[in-house]
Amino acid sequence: MCGIVGAIADRNVLPILLEGLQRLEYRGYDSAGVAVRDAKGGLKRFRALGKVAVLKELVDQSDVTGDLGIAHTRWATHGAPAERNAHPHMSGVKVAVVHNGIIENHNELRDRLTGHGYVFTSETDTEVIAHLMADKLEAGKSLLAAVVDVAAELEGAYALAASSPEDHDRIVVTREGSPLVIGLGEGENFIASDVMALLSVTRRFIFLEEGDVAEVRRDGVTIYNAAGEEVTREIKESALSNANIDKGPYAHYMLKEIYEQPGVISETLEGRIHKGRLLEASFGHETTALLDKTKHVQIVACGTSYHAGLVAKYWLEEVGVGCSVEVASEYRYRKVVVPEGSLLITISQSGETADTLAALRDSCSKGYIGSLTVCNVPESSLVRESDVCFMTRAGTEIGVASTKAFTTQLVALRLLMIALARRKGLTPEEEETMVNELHSLPRQVEVVLELADKIQIMAEDFSDKHNALFLGRGAFYPVAMEGALKLKEISYIHAEAYPAGELKHGPLALVDETMPVVCALPDDPLLEKVLSNLQEVRARGGELFLFSDHKVNIGLDRYQSLTLADIYPGTAPIVYSIPLQLLAYHVALLKGTDVDQPRNLAKSVTVE
Ligand code: G6P
Repeated sequence: MCGIVGAIADRNVLPILLEGLQRLEYRGYDSAGVAVRDAKGGLKRFRALGKVAVLKELVDQSDVTGDLGIAHTRWATHGAPAERNAHPHMSGVKVAVVHNGIIENHNELRDRLTGHGYVFTSETDTEVIAHLMADKLEAGKSLLAAVVDVAAELEGAYALAASSPEDHDRIVVTREGSPLVIGLGEGENFIASDVMALLSVTRRFIFLEEGDVAEVRRDGVTIYNAAGEEVTREIKESALSNANIDKGPYAHYMLKEIYEQPGVISETLEGRIHKGRLLEASFGHETTALLDKTKHVQIVACGTSYHAGLVAKYWLEEVGVGCSVEVASEYRYRKVVVPEGSLLITISQSGETADTLAALRDSCSKGYIGSLTVCNVPESSLVRESDVCFMTRAGTEIGVASTKAFTTQLVALRLLMIALARRKGLTPEEEETMVNELHSLPRQVEVVLELADKIQIMAEDFSDKHNALFLGRGAFYPVAMEGALKLKEISYIHAEAYPAGELKHGPLALVDETMPVVCALPDDPLLEKVLSNLQEVRARGGELFLFSDHKVNIGLDRYQSLTLADIYPGTAPIVYSIPLQLLAYHVALLKGTDVDQPRNLAKSVTVE
C-alpha cells in the first residue's frame, strides 16, 4: 500500500527521500509528497498527483534543500487520488504527518476536531492525525508525547511518522498493524515502510514491533514499547541485494522477473534436494517436528499466492493429506472448525499482506498445531510472527503482477508436499521421481521461455478483445485462474477462469466469435473430457488458444495451439503458468498499459 520514507542527516535528504519513494512506488502510486525542514527551520511541502517522477520534477524546479524530511507515496483508500489528498498532511505549519494504514474512527475524530475549529483540506483519514498532533503540540507536549497521546486515540492500522518545527531535531514514528523499519546510518538515521527504500543508504535495520514508538534523531534512536518502557530492539543486517532492483536490459520489471524464473527456481531448490532425495534437515528441526504432527493443512493467502495454495491442495490430496484453501479476507472473519492436527500455512510474496497477517494472528486461538509461512521476504512480519517459515528465494519482485514469486511458491509447496508424503508412506522410488522432476524444472522453464515469439503473435488476437475465458481442470484450474488474473491485472481485459467441466453451467452463454478461450491442456487422465468441453466452445464460434504438451487435434480452424515439450506431470502446473504470464505481458504491451504498475493496484496490500 502506501509507502513511507524519512531521513534526518547532516546533508540534503531530498534525494534520499525521492529515491526511497521511487523504490517504494510498487506499494502504491496515485500521488506522492514530501515535507522537509528548510533552511529557515520551517516545513516546506511538495505534493503531486501521479507518479514519484512528477513529484521529483516539482522538487527539481525549486532550490529547496532540507536536512530532515518525511515523504510518502499513496494508494488511495479514503479520498480520491488528488493532490489535496496526497501526504504529508499538515496542520497549519505546525506539524507534518505521513501515514500508511486506515484509521477506523476518523469520522468521530474529524467531528470533534472540526468542533475545535480545525479546518480540513482533504478527505483523508490521515488529516485527523495531523490536527490531533497540532492540538497536543499546542498544549505544550513534545513531539514524542504528542505521538504517544495521538496513537492512544486511534483505532485501526497504522504506521506513521511526524515532524514539527516546534520540536525540530527529530522524527517520531509509531506503528500498529502496518510495518515500519528504522535504518541506521553514521550520524544520520532513516525510517521507511520497508527496507527496500533505504538499501542505498544503509543495510542495518531495526524492525519496530506492534505499539512501538521511536524518536529518530541524527545521533541515535530511542524506542519505547506499547507500555511506554524504553526498549532495545535487535539490529539486523539486511540480506537483500541492491542489484536485484535494477531492470537491466528488460523493458519492464515483469519481463525481467518472468525470465529470472529458471534461476530463482534453482535457488529455491538449492540445498533442499540432492541425488533424488529431499534434504528435509534443510527445513530446520522445528519445521520437521511440526510436519510430523500434521494431519491436515489449512492454507490462507491472497491474490496470486492464493492460487499457489489452490494448486498445492491438489498435490497434497494426491498424497493423502487433507487440505483446505481460503482467501485470507474471508477466512479471518469466518467461524472455522479446525480439524485435529491442522497446520496453518500462510503463503505470501511480501509477508506484509494485511489480511493474511490478520488471519495468522487470529489463528492463535483456533487450535492449530502451529503456523508455517511460505514467504519471499526474510525480514517480513509473516516470517517474524509464524512459528516456522519456508523461504522462497525469488529475490525482490517489483512488478505488481506476481510471476517469479508464484512459481517459486509452487516449488516450495511441492517440497513441503514431498515431506508430508514421506509421512504417508512415499517410497524412495516415488520420491526420486518427484525430486528429479523438480531438478529438471529450471530447464523446462527455459524451453518454454524460448516460445516467447510465438506467444507474442498469439497476443495480437487479444489486444482488441474485451473479455477472455481461461479453462483448466484439476490443478490446471488454479493455473487458469492465475492466467486470467495476470491478463486482467495488466491488460485490463476482463478475464475469468472456469473449471472446463463447468462451462455448460453458465459461461458457455458468453461464448461467441469475440470471446477468446485459453486452455492449459496437459496430456493427463482428464484430457478427453477437456477436449469435449473445447468442442462445445468451437461449436459456438469461440476462438481457442491452447497450450499443450502433445499434438492437439481438435479440427481445422478457430484455434491456435502451442506445444510445450518434455513436461513432467508433477511440475506441469508450474511450467504451464509461464506461457500464460508471457501472454498477459505481450497483450498488455500491445495495449500500451503500465505493465509494472497497473492502475488502481498495489504490490503489497497492507490495509484491509
Ligand atoms: C496484491 C498483489 C498481488 C499479490 C497479492 C498478495 O494484490 O498485487 O500480486 O499476489 O497482493 O500478496 P502477497 O505479498 O501476500 O503474496
